Amino acid sequence: MPGLTGGRWGTPTPLRRVTAREGKNGGVTRASLEKQPHEVAAMFDGVAAKYDVTNDVLSLGQARLWRKAVAAAVGARPGEKLLDLAAGTGTSSLPFAASGAYVVPCDFSIGMLREGKKRHRHLPLTAGDATRLPFADGVFDAVTISFGLRNVQDTDTALRELLRVTKPGGRVVICEFSHPTWAPFRTVYTEYLMRALPPVATAVSSNPDAYVYLAESIRDWPDQPALAARMQGAGWTKVAWRNLTGGIVALHRGRKSDEG
Ligand SMILES: C[S@@+](CC[C@H](N)C(=O)[O-])C[C@H]1O[C@@H](n2cnc3c(N)ncnc32)[C@H](O)[C@@H]1O
Repeated sequence: MPGLTGGRWGTPTPLRRVTAREGKNGGVTRASLEKQPHEVAAMFDGVAAKYDVTNDVLSLGQARLWRKAVAAAVGARPGEKLLDLAAGTGTSSLPFAASGAYVVPCDFSIGMLREGKKRHRHLPLTAGDATRLPFADGVFDAVTISFGLRNVQDTDTALRELLRVTKPGGRVVICEFSHPTWAPFRTVYTEYLMRALPPVATAVSSNPDAYVYLAESIRDWPDQPALAARMQGAGWTKVAWRNLTGGIVALHRGRKSDEG
């Protein structure tokens, strides 16, 4: 299967405007996905206890490989300051802490943070909303967000907030579910998401509705070039992406210009 395990970093075509038809999500309407931020936070509060184990089961073990790829893309160095936004229980922050960087996991679900504090006492878990980050301008060497941007109601504001808190010349890495690039695989995958995922989630999760939302939100998320265009629109430069597992997940990276 082409590109199933990875791929090169691709770059978007020159910046273009997102048309009115594409709307705020680059080609989709969010249909039943208009969850208010407090509903999203409550949904994650509800799945917090079993979140990490459910992730491993539903991703068929791929989640660990995706986290390694994120760590490689961020390339955190000892002493650097990193923001891991929408960090949930802090599991996504662990590889950065292990590299000797000072990582701040930030999330707006108190349930996820509380669960994270039980497991990772050493992490400075911080409550904060992606659209109004509780940090000063230009404080982080790198900012990253794994499987969180899709859940933030206002994607563009979050992308601008990430840029604001990054130092001039700093970097961003976004890890998010995306769109498989090989059409036959895409069809099989979409079937898995829409049909198999909710029943499997019912068996392993405390809140299966959250996983119906997960399936729908993945299907309706912008594809790789559309997200790259959104990043450029928010002010990020040198934007590129790389597919993982045939495009089930994509890593997008970018830079804040040296001028700030
Ligand atoms: C699927 S979890 C990802 C957790 C973690 N990054 C990981 O990779 O396992 C998505 C997280 O996004 C958080 N989130 C959604 N909207 C947010 C917002 N506006 N501000 C901060 N966190 C948000 C949720 O509370 C949830 O913990």
